[in-house]
Amino acid sequence: MPKITFIDMADAVRSVEAPLGWTVMEAAVKNNVPGIEAECGGACACATCHVYVDEAWMDAVGTAQPMEADMLDFASDVRSTSRLSCQIKVKPELEGLVVRTPERQG
Ligand code: FES
Repeated sequence: MPKITFIDMADAVRSVEAPLGWTVMEAAVKNNVPGIEAECGGACACATCHVYVDEAWMDAVGTAQPMEADMLDFASDVRSTSRLSCQIKVKPELEGLVVRTPERQG
């Protein structure tokens, strides 16, 4: 089961085990990781699951699909590493993935 590490703006580190097929958002919410609200429950309709993917993981995670890219416009402080965590499926290649949560969602 891949381990995913979430780092918040205060540099607090939380690592969780994420079953394959879950999304990074689900891994956060089901493990009470703060900083991800996920108001729409993963429907790519709220942008409150915004994360910054660690630079080293950008290739493995891949790029956002058009619907996600459009929704990211509603997130605050969007950067080149921004993704919506509900659109990142947990897969074996993401073992050790590191993402940062933003200062605020929405
Ligand atoms: Fe709403 Fe990801 S949970 S867009």
